[in-house]
Amino acid sequence: MSVETLDDLFLHELKDIYDGEKRILKALPKMAKAATTSELQAAFEEHLAQTEQQIERLEQVFELIEKPARGKKCMGIQGLLEEGAELMKEDAMPPVMDAGLIAAAQKVEHYEIASYGTLATYAKILGLREAGELLKQTLAEEKETDKLLTRLASEINFEAEMASEEA
Ligand SMILES: [Fe+2]
Ligand SMILES: [Fe+2]
Repeated sequence: MSVETLDDLFLHELKDIYDGEKRILKALPKMAKAATTSELQAAFEEHLAQTEQQIERLEQVFELIEKPARGKKCMGIQGLLEEGAELMKEDAMPPVMDAGLIAAAQKVEHYEIASYGTLATYAKILGLREAGELLKQTLAEEKETDKLLTRLASEINFEAEMASEEA
């Protein structure tokens, strides 16, 4: 597909994040399984449910602009998830693993925040009011998730440091 106009760029970014979300949907159960504290596990599971809704919202946006819901390989998210998968293979102490999982998850959240922020802005400029509302809804969820992870990290990072001292 050629990216010439802002409409094209909007569709390009939409396809990117649609593919990215689908990859995230597959990765989250693995991350929940690798998490060692119930709070972090619950956070990943909750975000899995949110991600399902976010994918549906993206499908609604595709419908609103009358384009087929089709993704385009999101190399950014793919790379971030691969890094997370590599970490999960490590033999880290439990709180250290959790700290690393949070770091990996926040990198993904920040990518998503950038994507949805951009898409919502384009939607506004392009006069796509309804699409813009849907994108802003997801943007707010991603920001909330990022904040929740920061909150969890403040305790888990400390535990990781304590465990490291005892080792
Ligand atoms: Fe998402
Ligand atoms: Fe997310």
